[in-house]
Amino acid sequence: MSRIKNHLVADAKLDSEKIIELKNRNEQFLINNGRRKTYHILTYGCQMNEHDSEKISGMLTSIGYVETDDEKNADLVIFNTCLIRENAELRVFGKLGEVKGLKKNKPDMIVAVCGCMMQKQEIRDKVLEKFSFVDIIFGTNTIHELPVLIYNVEIKKEKSVDIVDNTDLIYEDMPKLRKFKYKALVNITYGCDNFCTYCVVPYVRGREKSREPEDIIQEIKILAEDGCKEVTLLGQNVNSYGKNLNVEFTFAQLLYEINKIEGIERIRFMTSHPKDLTDDLIKAIQECDKVCKHLHLPVQSGSNDVLRRMNRKYTKEHYLTLVEKLKKAVPDIAITTDIIVGFPGETEEDFLETLDVVKKVEYDSAFTFLYSIREGTVAAKMDDQVPDEVKHDRFNRLLEVLYPIILEKNQKCIGKVFPVLVETAEGDELTGRTEHFKLVHFKGSKDLVGEIVNVKITDVKTFHMKGSIVIA
Ligand code: 5AD
Ligand code: SF4
Repeated sequence: MSRIKNHLVADAKLDSEKIIELKNRNEQFLINNGRRKTYHILTYGCQMNEHDSEKISGMLTSIGYVETDDEKNADLVIFNTCLIRENAELRVFGKLGEVKGLKKNKPDMIVAVCGCMMQKQEIRDKVLEKFSFVDIIFGTNTIHELPVLIYNVEIKKEKSVDIVDNTDLIYEDMPKLRKFKYKALVNITYGCDNFCTYCVVPYVRGREKSREPEDIIQEIKILAEDGCKEVTLLGQNVNSYGKNLNVEFTFAQLLYEINKIEGIERIRFMTSHPKDLTDDLIKAIQECDKVCKHLHLPVQSGSNDVLRRMNRKYTKEHYLTLVEKLKKAVPDIAITTDIIVGFPGETEEDFLETLDVVKKVEYDSAFTFLYSIREGTVAAKMDDQVPDEVKHDRFNRLLEVLYPIILEKNQKCIGKVFPVLVETAEGDELTGRTEHFKLVHFKGSKDLVGEIVNVKITDVKTFHMKGSIVIA
C-alpha cells in the first residue's frame, strides 16, 4: 500500500559494524568454549512486557546467544521490570539483591535492567547507586539498542545507559523469538493517553501511537503461515486504535481484516477501555467468527465519584449499559475485569457500588488490586488516602462476593462441550483455554499441544475446570 505512514518506521540496525563485530566474537566464543553464550530474562508485569521480552530474545538470538532457564547459568541476565504497583517494584529490588551475590562469583556475567521501572529517573538513579554491579540500563523505547549496549560493555568496557522518554518511532523490524508457536502476542498500539489518575503507564510508556494496519496484518499473515492459530492484540487501550493514524481506520475495522486471515482461528485483544467501546466494535465482536467470546473490560470502581476522580470518563450506568449491549449481541460472552479497592477518598458507600457492579455484571473472572500509591501520578497527591486495614477489609469482602459468582458461572459449564486450544502438556496432563478464556485441565497426548480439541467439562473450581476429550 502506498500510504503516507503516520509514524517513522525505524531500523534496528542489526547489520551495523559494531553488531557484526559482536556476532563474530560470539561465534568465536562458541568455537573456544564449545557452547554459545547464554541469557536469562526475568519478566515482570503484563503481556506487553512479556512480548517485549520476546523481542529481546529475538535480538539476542540474532547475535548468537541462546536462552537458559536459570539466571545461575546465564552469561547475561536481564530484568524486564514493571512499575504498575509497589509490590512489582519491590520484587525486582529483592531479586536484584540475589543477583548481586551471583555476580560476585561470576564477575563476567552481564546484568541488564530494562522495562517500565527504568523509564523513571529516580528509580534508574536508585539502581545505579544501590546496585552498581548493573552493567546495562535501557527502557521501553530502546529495546532495539540492546546489541549496541552489550557491545559497549563487552568491547569498550563501559557501563551503558540508554533511555528515550517519549518517541514517535516504531521499530517494525525487530526480530522476535516467540514463546509459543500456536499463539502469539501482537502489538497494535504503544503507550497511553488516558492518564487515569492512579496509573503510572502514560508517564513511562509515553503517548499512544498505533501501528499501521498493513504492518499488523502482514505480521499476522506470517504468523498464520507459520502455524499460529491464536493472536492476542495488545495495547493499553485497543479500543482507541487508529486514533492517530493518517487515515480513518478503527479497531473494529482491524478486527474484520484480521478475521479474514486464513489459518488464524482465534482473535483475542486487551485491554479495552469502556469509554471507547463503540457500537461498531460490539458489532465486530458479534460478526467476526474468529473473535473470541470474551471481553476484558476493566471497571476499576462502581462509584461514579471514584470513577470521576480516577479520570475514567464513564459512569457506572454507562458501564452497565455496555455490558447489557454486549450480552445482547453475544449471549454467552464471558466478561472479565480489573478492580481497584481503596482508591483515595473511597468511602464505604463507594465500595458498595463496586460490589453492586460485580453482582450485576456477574463476571467470569477478575483481577483485583489494592490501590498502590505511584509517585508522580495525580492520585498519589490526593490527601485522603484509605488506611491499609480498610483497604484489606474491602479487598476480602470483594473476593467473598466475586468468587462465588465466578464459581457459579463455571458450574454452568458442567456437561457442556467446548473447543479448547491445548497450550501445555505435563506427561498426559493437558492444559488449554476455551474461547471464553477459561482454563481447562484434561488428559490426552502431548502431541495435541497447539491443536483445538473438544472437551466436555466434568468438574469446576473457581479458577479452573476439568474435563475429558470427546471425539466428534
Ligand atoms: N494501584 C492498583 N492497581 C493499579 N492498576 C493500575 N495502577 C494501579 C495502582 N496504582 C491496575 C488497574 C489496571 C491494571 C492493569 O492494574 O486495575 O487496569
Ligand atoms: Fe493506565 Fe488508564 Fe492507560 Fe490503562 S488506560 S494504561 S489504567 S492510564
